[in-house]
Amino acid sequence: MVSTQSVVLSLGILFLLYFIKAERKLAAFPGPAIARYTDWWKVYRHWKGDYVEVMSEWHKKHGPFIRNGPNSLCVGGVENARKVYQTNPVLKKGSVFKTMVTWYKGRSVSGLEAILDENEHTTTKRMVSKTFTPVSVMGFESKMDQCTLEFIGHVEERGSFDMAEWFVYYFADMMNDIAFSAKPGFMEHATDVDGSLYITKVITLTWARVHAIPTIMSWLSWALGYMVGLNWKVVRLGRECLNSRLEKPDPEKTDLLNVYIEAGQERPDMISPERVLGMTLSTIIGGSDITAFTVTYGLSEILKNQNILSNIEQEIKGHELSYPPSIKELSKLPYLNAIVKETLRLSSPVQFNLDRVTPDGGMEMGGTHIPAGTTVGCLQGIINHDEVFGSDVTVFRPERWIEASEEKHNLMERSIMAFGMGKHTCIGQHFANAQLRKIIATLLMRFEVSAVDPHARLVWNTRTFLRHPQSYYISVKRRQSIDVAKA
Ligand code: HEM
Repeated sequence: MVSTQSVVLSLGILFLLYFIKAERKLAAFPGPAIARYTDWWKVYRHWKGDYVEVMSEWHKKHGPFIRNGPNSLCVGGVENARKVYQTNPVLKKGSVFKTMVTWYKGRSVSGLEAILDENEHTTTKRMVSKTFTPVSVMGFESKMDQCTLEFIGHVEERGSFDMAEWFVYYFADMMNDIAFSAKPGFMEHATDVDGSLYITKVITLTWARVHAIPTIMSWLSWALGYMVGLNWKVVRLGRECLNSRLEKPDPEKTDLLNVYIEAGQERPDMISPERVLGMTLSTIIGGSDITAFTVTYGLSEILKNQNILSNIEQEIKGHELSYPPSIKELSKLPYLNAIVKETLRLSSPVQFNLDRVTPDGGMEMGGTHIPAGTTVGCLQGIINHDEVFGSDVTVFRPERWIEASEEKHNLMERSIMAFGMGKHTCIGQHFANAQLRKIIATLLMRFEVSAVDPHARLVWNTRTFLRHPQSYYISVKRRQSIDVAKA
């Protein structure tokens, strides 16, 4: 008879051997001592909110490959980033993306970002991507304009407002309209209607703390979906819209729901009603907060620097623009576009590594061999600070995009990681570019804008999945001499 003692001892030895083998696999790579043995190190850093900062210090001292977990490396350097996100062959997504699955009543309703099967992702993305091209985005312009004018009306009435709060209302209303043709009314009620924005915050905060432990997070996300999802207005609204649209199709509506339903009808085997709902919700969630945080950061930088403010005001003044200015008109304003690029480069809200897994046989990166099955991922905040952007990479200087030679400009374009890189790059980037240009230009056309406290500096909460800005108040004063064309 086998004794309990010997079973425990054998299991202990097996566990130890497994542990030693795992530890040895990446032994050559530098990194924090505890991270070699456990992913809880990462959980702790995210809880403290200094993960990106700590990784950045390690990269500065020890080079492009830092061991940030028992089986993972944080990768620096734009050349290495291009390998991690190469398209031929594509590296599989890391398990961190499993934790992005959204749940509704116990059923997975994941969007594009949480499709781990590459073939399924390719087919699904291909079927919907025609709606996300720069030209197609213009088809949604009337919705953008209507929300922008509503926003302008609300903030004019107030005279001053907290950007961190109001841009979230603005983008959440706009993305709901674009996705479902239904606005929850965040701007109208000047509040977090039904607490759905708060719930998103709680979820992203929890996610940031435990995403490094995907199994636990998957369970947690399932449980939250069960408990919170039922009352979550955005989910409920989405479900109701989907059901009524399926029962009574409305092809006249210009929204993403119709695009996704059509894709589902073409490939019911791949795009189920749950997937339609998941993709619609993920476009709203993926496209609201992040764009709001980005414009808050950009405007805080513009207002901090009088030269930048006066340059952009002059550029706007020097062009015949409609009101609100159109996407087409704004694409021809080089200084505005440089501001948006620089904003995207430095706002870098994503606080976690966009992980991929090295293939069988491992791979070479920058002359270093990375073993097979290693999780490798870059951080936006590190790649966007790479030296290819200049010697003053931490400074907000839109001019770098204007002064650069064509060759250098192209290099910077290829190196920026604001929207990710490679096959999984952000599908909504043309929406984001258009929205950012439109709101910055419209505000500056209509108002003289200034920071309520000229000495205020934007403070970030970095303890969450997307770092988000804290309160930052700006004043708006309607321009008396309507010196900008038709405002
Ligand atoms: C400033 C605004 C935005 C930024 C900085 C941003 C950034 C990103 C990043 C870094 C990724 C991940 C890429 C990866 O996994 O490797 C991503 C993916 C994604 N984004 Fe955005 N995004 C923005 C706006 C939007 C908008 C407006 C939408 C919707 C209209 C959107 C929808 C998505 C979707 C669906 C994915 C998943 C794509 C895929 O897996 O193929 N995003 N975004």
